[in-house]
Amino acid sequence: MMRELTYCLSIIAALSCLLFSGAHIASGQTGISQQPDAADSSDSNTHNLASKRTYHGEVEPLLRAHCLECHREGGLAPFSLEGFAQAKAHALTSLQMIQQVSMPPWPPSARSLPLQHERCLTANEQQLFAEWVQQGRLAGHPSLPSDNTISAVTPQTIQTKRPPLGEPDAVFELPSSFEVPAEGDDIYLYVPIPTGWAKDQWIQAIEFEPGVASVVHHASFMADTSGTAREMDAETKEMGYRRYGGSGFTASNTLGGWAPGAQPMAFPPGIARKVDRGADLVLQMHYHPSGRVEHDRSRIKIHFAKEPVQKQVVELIMANLDLQIPANRASHRHVAEYVLPVDVTIYGIAPHAHQVATSVLIEAIDFETGPTILLEIPRWNMNWQQVYVPRAPLTLRGGTRLRTTFVYNNSSSNPRNPHQPPQDIFWGEQTSDEMGVVFFDATTNTPEDLKFLQWHNQNRLTASREEAARHPRGKIEAQ
Ligand code: HEC
Repeated sequence: MMRELTYCLSIIAALSCLLFSGAHIASGQTGISQQPDAADSSDSNTHNLASKRTYHGEVEPLLRAHCLECHREGGLAPFSLEGFAQAKAHALTSLQMIQQVSMPPWPPSARSLPLQHERCLTANEQQLFAEWVQQGRLAGHPSLPSDNTISAVTPQTIQTKRPPLGEPDAVFELPSSFEVPAEGDDIYLYVPIPTGWAKDQWIQAIEFEPGVASVVHHASFMADTSGTAREMDAETKEMGYRRYGGSGFTASNTLGGWAPGAQPMAFPPGIARKVDRGADLVLQMHYHPSGRVEHDRSRIKIHFAKEPVQKQVVELIMANLDLQIPANRASHRHVAEYVLPVDVTIYGIAPHAHQVATSVLIEAIDFETGPTILLEIPRWNMNWQQVYVPRAPLTLRGGTRLRTTFVYNNSSSNPRNPHQPPQDIFWGEQTSDEMGVVFFDATTNTPEDLKFLQWHNQNRLTASREEAARHPRGKIEAQ
């Protein structure tokens, strides 16, 4: 019952988020001169602030819901928005960021499926913040909150309603603390941690606790049964090993990830991932120097499935490895397709590319109903990658064609281009290479279907690898 209610509320919030943000974009983002909405024009109660937006009335709750998870003391963002003085000091740039839809950071466009943990302000909230700035950034009274209401249901308020996960069954910590320098490039560090599990484990949920939130940008989790991650770790004295584009081993499982503000990834009862006995957990830590030397020791907490597992979550990989991006091409489209051989339910979608990628569009094309956009990231930024979780698991029937379109800018107009002057770029894990891959967390109706799906998906990848190998990496012929 509770679950259904929460779900309904999420749909409403998602819809309002989509509708309002869409409307906002369509109206050219002015929005400042609009009349106060109906909630304001009720009784103003003799209190002369009642018709004005105030910090304590509306702005503080808005910032708390949408900004403070990063903009707080020790948070990931470079400054805090806690307290009236800070909010006032940063009000103008904040308004600018909000109106450009640059903050809060949320790469997917409004055309994407409704997603969990969506960071987005409704048109009402944008309006309200703009009015507060226009009306002189008033403080208001902490004891007399105004009658004005911001949209009471925000994605954040819904997300906190999920029942707590309880005590974890296993907790793993980085073996020692990692020193993140004050300055310099972002660091991708892989740290294998032995589980010592004597039997296979079914994993229902994973929680991540950043050690120092101001430097932990993201984390992803994998399992390795090959021992390769351990060997790479042993090559240097430093804890773990650094790599840029990929882990350097074939994970026996990927286990999702964490981004600031994300709730722990938890599957519904009866649905879980399997990790083989004896596996190492590998934490991929993405560190972003904060201006101060920090020592991070993050932890992950694992919850095993408590109920019999009906469905195993596996990873589907969609990629066209025959990627050749000619030098100086400012808009290079690269398409990968995969036709689902059986009915599949999708729980997570994680696109991955490097620096010259500029956008990604992921569609599902049903043979009767046509294409649906699953996820669109119009301005790709490698530093803001995560697993996107549809608000409701998405069922696609066998025969559905998944299609991914990555666009790359391999010209010198792309400030992120690792080659200046530009060079031909191919598929690979290094900084100087590119990728364009999408990972789906998926289940099937039956264990037989699951086996077939895994076999089929591997087969398609192998075919793509062979196709790519037929094209030697010389100079790309003019096309
Ligand atoms: C998920 C974390 C996160 C959330 C949520 C977030 N920010 Fe930010 N913000 C950042 C980071 C990190 C930066 C630094 C620039 C960057 O990395 O993009 C930043 C930068 C900014 C800047 C400076 C931009 C510039 O170019 O000078 C402003 C202003 C800002 N944020 C306002 C806000 C407001 C207002 C909200 C809420 C409506 C918000 N942010 C929500 C992480 C966040």
